[in-house]
Amino acid sequence: MIVLGIETSCDETAAAVVTAERAILANRVLSQAEAHRPYGGVVPEIAARAHVEHLDSLIRDALDQARVGIGGLDAIAATAGPGLLGGVMVGLVTGKAIAAVAGVPFLAVNHLEGHALSIRLVEDIAFPYLLLMVSGGHCQLLIVKDVGNYRRLGTTIDDAVGEAFDKTAKMLGLGYPGGPAVEAAARRGRADRFDLPRPLRGRPGCHFSFSGLKTAVWRVVESLARPLGQQDISDVAAAFQVAVGDVLVDRSARAAERFRSEHEDADRLVVAGGVAANGYLRDRLARLADDVGFTLHAPPAALCTDNGAMIAWAGLERLGRGMVDSLDAPPRARWPLDPDAAPAPGAGVKA
Ligand code: KG4
Ligand code: ZN
Repeated sequence: MIVLGIETSCDETAAAVVTAERAILANRVLSQAEAHRPYGGVVPEIAARAHVEHLDSLIRDALDQARVGIGGLDAIAATAGPGLLGGVMVGLVTGKAIAAVAGVPFLAVNHLEGHALSIRLVEDIAFPYLLLMVSGGHCQLLIVKDVGNYRRLGTTIDDAVGEAFDKTAKMLGLGYPGGPAVEAAARRGRADRFDLPRPLRGRPGCHFSFSGLKTAVWRVVESLARPLGQQDISDVAAAFQVAVGDVLVDRSARAAERFRSEHEDADRLVVAGGVAANGYLRDRLARLADDVGFTLHAPPAALCTDNGAMIAWAGLERLGRGMVDSLDAPPRARWPLDPDAAPAPGAGVKA
């Protein structure tokens, strides 16, 4: 079984060819970071236009590299949401058109499911597992029970963790996207120079909050003399990253406890999404997993940030279970993995 995966939900145009035997025959990702950099964040109209301009040739490149023609594909998978609708539509329509021409099944993939199952593309890890999903748009703890079957234990009540990295980078003049730049700067920093809050740490439940941390970073940056020196930048980045690590560890520990109380064979913690590319946070989570008798599983960095291989893989998992979609599958701006999860209390509202 060979599947083409297409990803266009945010600012990466991506196409990949993956087999059911876990061979990644091609995994092409075209970052639009350069186009969005002057604006310090993703501009939806620019993103949609860039997907239109580049997707066709990127798919051709991926098929060439995989040495497979359209006739050699067994199915087409494309992200159908959640994400920026303009971009989602570009990939979705393209995927449907190829599926129609090739006469093969089409799979409308939830981008979050792509992240959630990405670990199974590289490791034979069984369900259920605990998932910490940390990306630019999401910060959630979920029990992954099966393909299409998720229970959300916690989510952010305000900002996503990747967003906090990006805003911190912007305040420090590190540019966009911020995650990798903050991680690099933090390596040379002293985390204890500034005292930053750890929102919701020690509180009941598994929800997250990052807006207070973001504001605290802003206050610290405002208090420093301009222009910021290299050491200032590194020290703030390090303090921020440690605070994020403390919060992720605290919330994940609680989720692990809950997961274990419900599933006796629960001992697997998976981290996925763009922020999971962060080496410091991976180390912290590996240590936590060790402390609570779990093992940490994390995809390689290239499969953490947005890519087409995870979409192709989620498509393969669905195809294998006969969960194919019709060519009317709609694009979805919002698409929670656990539609039954109770709404998270908003910022300032007591849980
Ligand atoms: O999963 P992803 O590529 O896109 C979304 O679905 O949101 O995640 C992108 C996010 C961005 O906020 C980016 O700054 C963050 O992941 N990120 C990182 C690192 N690499 C990417 N954050 C922290 N450390 C990194 N090394
Ligand atoms: Zn993503």
